[in-house]
Amino acid sequence: MSDNKRAKIAVLGSINMDLMIRSAKLPLPGETVIAETKVENPGGKGANQAVAAARMGAEVTMIGCVGDDSFAEELLQNLKAEGINTRYVTRKTDTTSGVAVVMVEMSGENAILVVPGANGLVGLAELEQARQVICESDVLLMQLEVPVETVIAAAKIAREAGVPVILDPAPAPAGFPAELLKVDLICPNQSETAALTGKSLTSLEDVMAAILALVEQGPHQILVTMADQGAVLFDGESVEIIPPFQIQAIDSTAAGDAFAAGLAVKLAEQATLREAAHFASAAGAIAASGAGAQTAMPDREQIETLITKQVQERFHE
Ligand code: RIB
Repeated sequence: MSDNKRAKIAVLGSINMDLMIRSAKLPLPGETVIAETKVENPGGKGANQAVAAARMGAEVTMIGCVGDDSFAEELLQNLKAEGINTRYVTRKTDTTSGVAVVMVEMSGENAILVVPGANGLVGLAELEQARQVICESDVLLMQLEVPVETVIAAAKIAREAGVPVILDPAPAPAGFPAELLKVDLICPNQSETAALTGKSLTSLEDVMAAILALVEQGPHQILVTMADQGAVLFDGESVEIIPPFQIQAIDSTAAGDAFAAGLAVKLAEQATLREAAHFASAAGAIAASGAGAQTAMPDREQIETLITKQVQERFHE
C-alpha cells in the first residue's frame, strides 16, 4: 500500500439488527428481570467491523447478505452512509435479515442471542461474485456469524492471492474443521480461546498454553483479548502483554469488533503487529466506554487521542 492510498479491507460477515436491552443485571436461566431501556440499532459482528474500519479511514467492502424484511433496506443504507461499498451485499428472498437480542447489565457485561437469518445463506456464490475485491484487498477480515465453509473458502481465495487473512473467531464453535484456523492471525477473547482449545483458562500460563495449542493448528500470529487485563500477543516468535487502556467500561458490546477492525486497518497500513495491537486495544477500550455496537465504534481521531493521552500519562509517571 502506498503512503497516499487508503488501506483496502474486505469484510466477510454478518449484518444484524440489534435489539439492545439494558437492565440492572442479566437474567439467570429461568429468571425474569424487568429491563430499563430498549433501542434498535444496526449491528452484526461483520457490519460492526466494517463500520469501525471505515471510521478508522479504510476503504471497506462488505460481503454478506440481508433478507427481504423491513430491516434489510435500513441495514444497507446504514452501511452506505458510513461510506462502505455494499455492492457485494446480496438481498436474499424469503428470509429475514439477521437479528440479535443484546442484553447489557450495569457492569457493562452482556449476553447476546443471534438469529442468523440471511447471514446463514452467505455462500460460495456470494464469494465468487466478490472474488476480485478480496484478491485486491490489503486484508480480508472475517468472523464466525456466517457459515464456516464460506469462511474457509474465502480464506483460501485470499491465501492464493497473497492477501493476509484475519479471523475473529466469534462466536467460537465448539467443534470446527481443521482448515478454519488456516489464517494469518486470530484474535479470540478468553472464552473463545477456551472454546477453541477445549480447555478452561484460569491463569496467564493457561493462556500461553492455549496460544501454543492454537499455533499448531495454523495461525502464525495470535492476540488473545482479556478485557480490562489487556491482550496477550504472540507474533510468531515470542509472547508480549499489551497493557489495557484505562477507561470507564459501560457496555462491552462490539468492543471485540472495534479491536479486530483496528488490527486489520493498521496491519493493512503496514504497521508492526505490536503497533497494530496497541491501536486495536485503544479502539476496543473506546468501544467499551460507549453504549451499543456501531453507535460506539470509534473513529481514528478518538483512537489516536487516547493513545497520545496514555503516552503522556506514562511519561509523567
Ligand atoms: O459483537 C457484537 C455483535 O454481536 C452485535 O452487534 C450483535 O449483532 C452480534 O452479532
